[in-house]
Amino acid sequence: MIRARQQDRAWADEAIRRINAENNRSADTHLYSVPIPEHWGVQLYLKDESTHRTGSLKHRLARSLFLFGLVNGWICEGTTIVEASSGSTAVSEAYFAQLLGLPFIAVMARTTSREKIALIEKFGGSCLLVDHASEVYAAAAELARRTNGHYMDQFTYAERATDWRGNNNIAESIFGQLALEEHPIPSWIVVGAGTGGTSATIGRYLRYHRHNTQLAVVDPENSAFYPGWLESRGAAAGGLPSDTPETAAPARGTAVAGGGQPSRIEGIGRARLEPSFVPAVIDHMITVPDGASVAAMRHLHDYAGLQAGPSTGTNLWGVWQLIAEMMAEGCRGSVVSLICDGADRYAGNYYNPDWLQTQGLDPAPHEETLRQFFASGTWPS
Ligand SMILES: Cc1ncc(COP(=O)(O)O)c(C=O)c1O
Repeated sequence: MIRARQQDRAWADEAIRRINAENNRSADTHLYSVPIPEHWGVQLYLKDESTHRTGSLKHRLARSLFLFGLVNGWICEGTTIVEASSGSTAVSEAYFAQLLGLPFIAVMARTTSREKIALIEKFGGSCLLVDHASEVYAAAAELARRTNGHYMDQFTYAERATDWRGNNNIAESIFGQLALEEHPIPSWIVVGAGTGGTSATIGRYLRYHRHNTQLAVVDPENSAFYPGWLESRGAAAGGLPSDTPETAAPARGTAVAGGGQPSRIEGIGRARLEPSFVPAVIDHMITVPDGASVAAMRHLHDYAGLQAGPSTGTNLWGVWQLIAEMMAEGCRGSVVSLICDGADRYAGNYYNPDWLQTQGLDPAPHEETLRQFFASGTWPS
């Protein structure tokens, strides 16, 4: 018995060593300065998470979830790893499962791009496709039970597995890379929410380090996050501050008015309020039309030569509005956002005009909005 436990511990020790070694071998992702008109008085920086080995911001989360599973004794030699994912997390988890010699199965909606499925299989994983995005949770839990495996459950553990104090989290990396800039403490950090883990980590980090930076979260159409955040604020209108448990957002995991439909922007926007979404650390939210996400994604490529996925477009649509507001108020400062993943995964859909048409996604009116903004420096009403 003791021998078996020692063997388990020895295996887990080696697994943790491998993950730390992988991290030690990896360089940090770049923080690009995006050249915008000097007279605007605002600097824009984009953290390029597509340069991770697995191509997205989810590389950090996958590393944290594996370490969290190992130190909790949930992941042992031979454990089948199961995850419910819209794609990016599964790609990163498949990579770490391969690093540890573990089987990996991703449970995803049948609409997930072929490119992402191919990437999961390239890292030795396999995919179980379900008809509707809302089925992934139960199907993943059931699969883990049947295989005596471990359900990583990013939606529940993303906010718990990532250290918000620092420990090389994305916020610590951003502030480190801004240190020599004109405005090292940004006025705004703008991100999207899929699990909500990235915004929770950044929001907590800003508060823990007492930075005067505000966190803005962008949300695509049909997502439960914005109405859920509003409701938590609405509860505050009733007199009680919004971040007390009594008036916190509607129960996590619940569908909220305005939600229910699967998001059309891969990786962000959810039909229900995910457990890792922490509205109380979010200072501002912006809803973004799906056509605008595509327009801003394409504009980033034309304007700055940076190739990104649609959720980065959602970020940029929020960024341009906040920069317009800062200019209107005569505020000088810096704004930071993320390139969440690269364009190569979306060649068959968001970069394909025929596919956009079949989805009823029309970027044209929003491209006109961006053209006017860059011509005048004011956000068209
Ligand atoms: C491409 C992409 N962008 C943004 C996000 C949002 O990140 P988070 O889950 O930390 O809220 C995700 C999450 O899956 C994603 O895949």
